[in-house]
Amino acid sequence: MKIEDIKKIAVLGSGIMGSGIAECAAKAGYKVVMTDVSDELVKHGIDNIKTSVNRIVNKGKITKADADAALNRIKGTTDVREAARDAQVVIEAISEDIGLKKRVFKELDAICPKESVIASNTSAIMITDLASATKRGDRFIGMHFFSPAQIMKLVEIIKGAETSEETFQLIRDLSVKFNKVPIAVNDAPGFFTTRYITACAAEAIRLFESRIAGLKDIDTMCKLAFNFPAGPIELRTSLV
Ligand SMILES: NC(=O)c1ccc[n+]([C@@H]2O[C@H](COP(=O)([O-])OP(=O)(O)OC[C@H]3O[C@@H](n4cnc5c(N)ncnc54)[C@H](O)[C@@H]3O)[C@@H](O)[C@H]2O)c1
Repeated sequence: MKIEDIKKIAVLGSGIMGSGIAECAAKAGYKVVMTDVSDELVKHGIDNIKTSVNRIVNKGKITKADADAALNRIKGTTDVREAARDAQVVIEAISEDIGLKKRVFKELDAICPKESVIASNTSAIMITDLASATKRGDRFIGMHFFSPAQIMKLVEIIKGAETSEETFQLIRDLSVKFNKVPIAVNDAPGFFTTRYITACAAEAIRLFESRIAGLKDIDTMCKLAFNFPAGPIELRTSLV
């Protein structure tokens, strides 16, 4: 499949990441169907996208007409079949639970057209392991966005053991269409970014335990000394 063949993207999960990713996809011109486990959660995700898009209209970063067009391209549903059966790419952003993700990937594998690509936004689970729930290891890949996905530029792209070069190129090109900077890394628990930030947080906790500094002061020092937008303790707390 080539980038021009992508018309519809299914985003699974309407939470913090799913709604941000759906916004990126719709702004890039794709038809998007976003799912969650209840109508209420789907609506919450769509409302979050509306708020986010209105914010950039008010800042003059996008016209009202383009914003409305992007919002009109997004549909919400609790029916994964409706979302995925004719999507060329599925981006999974459901809760970080390996058993849940594998069950959903097995189901998706049976629903999606055979040429479709499944991408996981997992923060830390090995892509090779997740891909093993499907029979499309060559069309399975990690596409790791950062929060808030509609703003943060990096997409870490992770090839599993069987991911094809074609799938990698497609998802790299799609990331560029989303106005992101894709960087390829090899498969490992936590990839690069999660592993690195977890090591920073672990060292911060060790220093706290050694009574070198207090928790709040560690966050404040990291922000003031290194220009981190969030300290390592508050960042890890917000991710659990
Ligand atoms: N929050 C972050 O900073 C961040 C950054 C990068 C990656 N991630 C990863 O993104 C994924 C989602 O994280 P989040 O922060 O958006 O979590 P979240 O809790 O905000 O959203 C997850 C959503 O998935 C939904 N969900 C659960 N099972 C589902 C199913 N079967 N079908 C559809 N939806 C389902 C939940 O109801 C929830 O609304 C996780 O894998 C996480 O590790 C998170």
